[in-house]
Formats: sequence, structure tokens, C-alpha cells
Amino acid sequence: MPKKTAAAPGSGPAKGRSTKELAQDGLVMSTNSSSIVSKRSVEHIYYPDEPHFFRFFVSRYQRRSPLINRGYHLRLHVIDVAVRNFLRRPSSKQKVVVNLGAGSDVVPWQCMTRYPEECQGAKFIDIDFPDLMGKKRRIVQEAPELHSVLTGLEYGDDQSDLLLTSNEYVQIGCDLRQLKRVEDALSQVITIQECEFIFIAEVSITYMETEAADSVIQWASTLGHAEFCLLEQILPDGADHPFAEMMVRHFNKLKTPIKSVDRYPTLRAQQERFNRLGWVHADAHSLWSAWSSDRYLSTEERMKLNDIEPFDEWEEMAIFTSHYCIVSAHTRPDVLPPCADLRVEEGQQQNSPASSLQVGTTYTDCGKTCLRRFGAPMKFQDQLGREFLGNACGLGGVSRVRSIDLYTDRQDDASIDALSVGPSSRMCHTIVDLGTHGQLLAGGRASPSSAFRDCWRFDAIARSWQKTADLPQPLYRHSATRLSQSSLALVVGGKTDATSVSKTCLLYQPDVGWTECVIGGAEYVPVFGAVLVSYPDSIAPDSDSGGPTTAFHGLLIGGMLEDGTMAKQALYWRLSLRGTEKPEIHFNAVSNSDDSEHAQKNGEWPVNSTLWRYGASAVMGDDGKLLIIGGVIEDRVIPKDEELLLISVSNSQIRIAATAPIIQPGAASPAVIPRPCLLGISVCATASGELVVMNGGATCYSFGTYWNQGTYSLRYSLPESSSPPESSAPVSWRFRKTVEITDAAADLANATAFQQATKPDPATM
Ligand SMILES: C[S@@+](CC[C@H](N)C(=O)[O-])C[C@H]1O[C@@H](n2cnc3c(N)ncnc32)[C@H](O)[C@@H]1O
Repeated sequence: MPKKTAAAPGSGPAKGRSTKELAQDGLVMSTNSSSIVSKRSVEHIYYPDEPHFFRFFVSRYQRRSPLINRGYHLRLHVIDVAVRNFLRRPSSKQKVVVNLGAGSDVVPWQCMTRYPEECQGAKFIDIDFPDLMGKKRRIVQEAPELHSVLTGLEYGDDQSDLLLTSNEYVQIGCDLRQLKRVEDALSQVITIQECEFIFIAEVSITYMETEAADSVIQWASTLGHAEFCLLEQILPDGADHPFAEMMVRHFNKLKTPIKSVDRYPTLRAQQERFNRLGWVHADAHSLWSAWSSDRYLSTEERMKLNDIEPFDEWEEMAIFTSHYCIVSAHTRPDVLPPCADLRVEEGQQQNSPASSLQVGTTYTDCGKTCLRRFGAPMKFQDQLGREFLGNACGLGGVSRVRSIDLYTDRQDDASIDALSVGPSSRMCHTIVDLGTHGQLLAGGRASPSSAFRDCWRFDAIARSWQKTADLPQPLYRHSATRLSQSSLALVVGGKTDATSVSKTCLLYQPDVGWTECVIGGAEYVPVFGAVLVSYPDSIAPDSDSGGPTTAFHGLLIGGMLEDGTMAKQALYWRLSLRGTEKPEIHFNAVSNSDDSEHAQKNGEWPVNSTLWRYGASAVMGDDGKLLIIGGVIEDRVIPKDEELLLISVSNSQIRIAATAPIIQPGAASPAVIPRPCLLGISVCATASGELVVMNGGATCYSFGTYWNQGTYSLRYSLPESSSPPESSAPVSWRFRKTVEITDAAADLANATAFQQATKPDPATM
């Protein structure tokens, strides 16, 4: 039985702090409250078969969104792996796990449950402000599930920094800026020279002044054999990255600014920080690269998570986890750097292309009237042949929408008429322009486990939606392209439900519907969210026996594998149509050999991880070069300078021809052109040669949603091009109106009424 009970600690430890400082400490302590609710949500959903410990610290269970759950799951898992590896490493010394700014974390109980053998003789020490630790002590005191596993348990009095001691677990109520006190308290419960430590600081010391946080890191390195696991925010691509902006603003608004990011914004800066502060080995990698590393999760483990909670917010997970670093540091020279293989080289350390694209950008603001992401681009013409762009369906400000945002490049009010009956609200669908055969909308989804198989064609002449053949299976996040200038479309991969990736390649013919292609070549691994493009030309028929009637060809690049890791495949495909036979698609890997010398001679560069993108948009130019825009990559956020990526493929070699930011440095002040979030965007190539980026945005973890609130019209050229983009600045594409799509059940009567109502107004679509 516990020997002594005590109320929450009083003024002792906080002595000398002004009221204002105490209030600030209170705000910092309150950051634990939201963290713990999220951890409880993860515990409840992702660890159904384990005893739950967070529940004692959270009075009311709240289910968090899948994105927050996945983020916290990874956070918890990374710390668990670090502690587990530390406990398992052979040592003659006593193992001590010190949690710096522990909040309500339950690492000791989880470890004692999961790794009882390794925990024999080990000691877990939580340190946090006295007030917070006092509350934690009370909860332990009141919960037999927590205190019954502790032996030699004693509760200290309020004036003591040692609030709880036991053989297995200790609570120290102390401000981490008072390191002498911390060390004195430690010395009372362990013999420092006889111990081997792991220090955990999970999103805690960044709330301290950076000098004080540095002192903690330095002090920890002086305690003999030690290891440090720091998990905290970084700004890998600057404070103007949309996610970074939302994150920093969020913490500033709470009056708990994250401070380390100013001095240590990158992985390299964090690594150097630890080396400078006494750590022999230090490796910094992003939480995002931990996700795909076998050090942390096996393929089976990653797949299992999909069964637990349907998840399709990969882009958002990528940008969030890329803004968190894990630093693993050691003072033991004989212990190898734990995660050297995960180290990400930033900026110029990566292979950089020799040339940069020249880009002209015109930004046209449309305010909050057109918030939309994961829609699909459409093109229309009015009867005078004037072009309009559309962004159809997708996720709006509140929910999935069933409408089209319409854009025009003219000042007059002209628009086009169209019937409003059409597809239901959806996202992650595709729309392929089939020329005179209209535009084919295929699949999409409601929730990640509710995919659609229905397809629609927007008839360019009748200007109405018509239902066409259903997909053979429900599909979203598939890749689709028109085959050259034909009226045929190819669909590759995609997800059929929350867990499965489609293994099929499908051909759409307006008169026939969908046909599954025979797949040839051993290279293709099924993916979703990949880049799929067709070359502008079709290929001449082969001369072999009964040769193909015709053949098309193109590229398939990147995408995601079933386990949520990036597919590193660049494939050249060739689709052959032989009369009534099944279409056959053959994939061949495009080589990425590092013949730097040859590539550089051509002003090009071997590809690096920036090529393997998920959720990117791509446009094939008439010159056969492929422009890839946005998306996410495997190990970090796409740096600003590589937002646009021009790829060349020749002699079966794929190379980076050039890269560029969407907003050229010095082109305009950021106040005029906001930095876009290149996720969930819809991209259209216009008849006049612009690329127009419509809408897009991302939920930035729990910090709010960032929306692109305008269009970006781009013209680009290679530096050696004779017509630099300045000579023809891209025209402005402005938002015209949103046109609702209605239910087919609403019937002709409605449609007729709609037509009549819109007749006097030429702006109706
Ligand atoms: C966001 S919470 C994180 C808690 C826990 N590490 C987790 O990940 O759930 C930050 C924690 O750091 C603690 N903290 C920040 N500055 C501190 C300081 N100077 N001394 C002690 N604790 C501090 C706060 O009280 C709070 O519990």
C-alpha cells in the first residue's frame, strides 16, 4: 500500500517565479491536455488488445480524426521503438528512461506490459513542472491499475521535487530550466555513474527558451552512457511553407510558441545541434521517413493499420510528419548511429538539376468563394469556341461537393449552358478529356471505404452529363489518361476500398465501355495516386504476324504501394489494340542509372527521390517532356525549388531536365502571390499554352486547413528556349461561378426548368 498521501504540490518548487511567468508555465503545461486526448484516441482505436493507461488521464474519450490518429500513432510508435531498443541493448549498468516534459505520458506502464523482461531492474523517471506532476501523482495514487505494479512505492511531500518514488518508477516535479535541482533529484533515486540513460523529449523542450533547451541536451550528454531521443517540430522548407505557416501560427495563437524551430529549422541543424552539445553520434530524420522505414514498421504492420481505421489522407500525413524530426543521439562511441540509413540530405546535398525552368506566374485571387480540393479538371467551350475551365466535385470547405467551379480568362460575363443533372458528390475521381467524345468522369469516393464505380460523360455538344458504363470495380485514387488524341482512356491502379489496391489496367472505349487489359512485363507493381501520361503520338503497328491495329505509349511514375510507402517505379508502357482481342499493356522499367557525366552534358540530372511522387499532377508537353507538379515524396516535403519538375525520357533513360518554384524569386512579393499548397489541386493545360492550377489545399494536422484561394496560371520554358515566358505573361484565369450538379432523380422537369431559368443569363453552365 502507498505510505503517504499528499495534495498537489504547492509553492515550493515554483518559488521565485513571477505571476506572469507562472501563467506562461501554465499555458505550456496545458499543451499536454490536447496531446493526451489524441493519445487516448490512438490507444482506444489502435491498441484494442492491450491494457489502456491513457484512459486514467483523460476524463472523456474523444475519437480524433484519422489524420490525427495516424500522426499520434506514429509518434507513439517511434518513441516506443527507441525505448524498446534501448532496454534490449545489453549493458552492465542499470537502465534508466528519463522522460523530459513527460506530461501525462504512460511509457513506463506500456513498457512494463509490453517488455516485462527487459524492464527488470530498469527505472522510468518522469519529469515535468511540479503542478502537472502533482496531478499525475494523484491519478497514479487513485488508480490501482497504475500503482499496483510499483514496488517500494512512496509519495513525497509537496515541498519535495520527488513526488513519487518506487523501484520501477519515479516522478520529479521540477522546471527543466533548473538542471541542478533535476540532477539533485535524480541523484536521490539512482547512482548516476552506475546507470545508462535514454532521455526522451517528445514535443516538450521546444516550449523552453532555446538556450535552456540546449542546456538540457548538453547536460544530458554529461551523464555517462546516454542516448537521446528528441521528437519535435522543424521547418524543413522554410516558415513560408503552407504547413509551417499554419503550425507556427497555431502555437503562437495559443501563446505557446515552438521555439527551437527558429534556430534549428532543419534536420541538419538539429543534427549539428546535438554534435555541438556533446553527443558523439547524432542522426536526424523526419517522422515521415520513419513511416516507411523497416526500422520502425514492417510492411505487414503498415497494412494492418489500414484494417484498423480507413485512411486516405496521405498527402496531409506526409506534410505533417515531414515537419517533425526525430533526433537519435548517443554518447557511447561504440554504439553505431541508430538511424544513419534514414538520414535525409537537404537542399543542395541532393542531386540538383543543372538548370532551372523559367516560369511566369499570374495569380488571380478568388477569395473564399472557391475552396475545393481533390476535384478534377474539366474543359468547356461555348458556342463561339471560347474556352472555360472547370474544377468538378471534390472536398469543399465543409464536406464533399457536387458542383463545378467555373473559370474564365475573359472579362465579359460569357459562360455556357449545361444541364445540371449529373454525378453525385465525390472526391479522388478522375476526368479525362476525350475530345469530341466529351469528358469522362470515372469513380471517386465518399469515405475511403466507400468507393464509386459509376462513370459519366460530359457531352461537349449536348452540354450535359450522361451516365456511361460503370467501372468493373469501385475505384478512387486511380490514374487516368487519354490515349494520345483518341477517344480512348486508360486507367491504371487506384484503390478499390480502404485497403486494397487495384491490380488492373482498364481501357475505356465510348462504344464498348471498360475492358481489362492483359498486363505484360514483370516490372509493374500496382499503385495508387501515380502519375500516368500518354505520349502525344500513337505508334505505328508492328509488322509481326497479325500486328496490332494500333498502339499507344506513355509513362507511369511513382504512386503509392498498398502499405502506404512510395513506389519507386518509373515505367514506360505500351498499349496494343488488336482487333477484337483483349488490349495488352506492357510495362518496361525506365532506367535511372547514375551516368551523371552524360546527363550533365545535356544539362540534365539523374533522378532522385523527388521523382517518386504521390498525388502529383502531370502534363506531357508536345516535346515529349513531362512536367510534374506538386504531390508528396518519400522522406521530406518537396522543396520549393522542386515544386515543378521537368522530366525527360530518352534512350530508355529518365532524367530531371529542370526544376523550378511556382513563384520565381523576385517575381512578385509574397503579399501578391501567396505560396500555393500543391496538394489536391486540379491542373489544366489551356489552348493558349498555359497551365492553370486550380484550388487545392490541405488539412494541416490539428492546426487548421490551408486553402489555395485563387488560380495560378503558368508558362514555362527551358533557359535556352528562344521564347522566355516573360514575353508572354500568362493570362489571368478568374473564378466565374459555382454551378451545382443535381440528382438524376430530380428528372427532366428540373433540368428543363434549369435550362429555362438560365437562358437569359449567358453565364450559366
Ligand atoms: C506537448 S506536452 C508533451 C507531453 C508529452 N511529452 C507527450 O508527448 O505527450 C509538453 C510538455 O512539456 C512540459 N514542459 C515544457 N517546458 C517544461 C519545463 N521547462 N519544465 C518541465 N516541463 C516542461 C509541459 O509541461 C508539457 O507537459
